[in-house]
Amino acid sequence: MKIDILSDLHFDYYFKQIYSSKVDVRKTYDKYFLKDGREIGDVLVVAGDLGHNNQQNISLLDMIKRIYGYKAIICVLGNHDYCLVNRIMEDDYDDSFARADEMKKLINDKEGIYCLDGDVIEIDGIRFGGAMGWYSSAFSRTYFPLAGIEGMNGMWKVLMPEGKQFKGIKNFDDPYKIELPKIEAVYQKCDVMITHINPSFLAEHISQEYRNNRSTTFYCFNGHEFLKNTTAKHWIFGHTHSSYSYEFEGVQCHVNAYELYKSNMKSIEI
Ligand SMILES: [Fe+2]
Repeated sequence: MKIDILSDLHFDYYFKQIYSSKVDVRKTYDKYFLKDGREIGDVLVVAGDLGHNNQQNISLLDMIKRIYGYKAIICVLGNHDYCLVNRIMEDDYDDSFARADEMKKLINDKEGIYCLDGDVIEIDGIRFGGAMGWYSSAFSRTYFPLAGIEGMNGMWKVLMPEGKQFKGIKNFDDPYKIELPKIEAVYQKCDVMITHINPSFLAEHISQEYRNNRSTTFYCFNGHEFLKNTTAKHWIFGHTHSSYSYEFEGVQCHVNAYELYKSNMKSIEI
């Protein structure tokens, strides 16, 4: 099976229209998905951060599946998929969790498109497990041990969009406690693991330009025991707008954030 790897599509950064009937998807994506005559994979993995509008997200995912002929698209949600970015959204949803629940349902109601949230889905004998995951204080505690939790919260509110727009939490690592059991439920039952957040906080597994930055705390968690004991051969993540792979504890870890002129589609065979 050939798996195409993407994350951080951020649809609303690229498309103004909400509904796909008015969007020229091919004009934007052909030069990426079909670049240099490449052949489309069997399955597309999207490791979170679809965009800020649930209707637009599902509309475009559905169109990508039909246009490029994927057998399945497998997603997890990302931090941006929880954000309520304006007053209208704040009125529409009780909190960020309500928005994420709606997004998950819209995806799972479509044939061949899946949103993993502590679930495993099997496609042609390959088991995909996934959950958004969330960042913890691991990076900060290791590399910036003097930074207190209050300081981290202040930094998070200023630096990260979800610091203000994730409605229903107080601290930067609150969702980590919610996401951890979801990862525990699937990491030993799959061949490919997907999270939005990087499961290693070691500097050598962080994109070069962010290694010495305290805010990298908001981009990774301590998933080392999961990597050591998972049945997955590959772990796909997103969130950091980079494209690279590393191997840790025998697991191949990959990120390939969509950026039209900076990255290319990345694929693995399994
Ligand atoms: Fe993200």
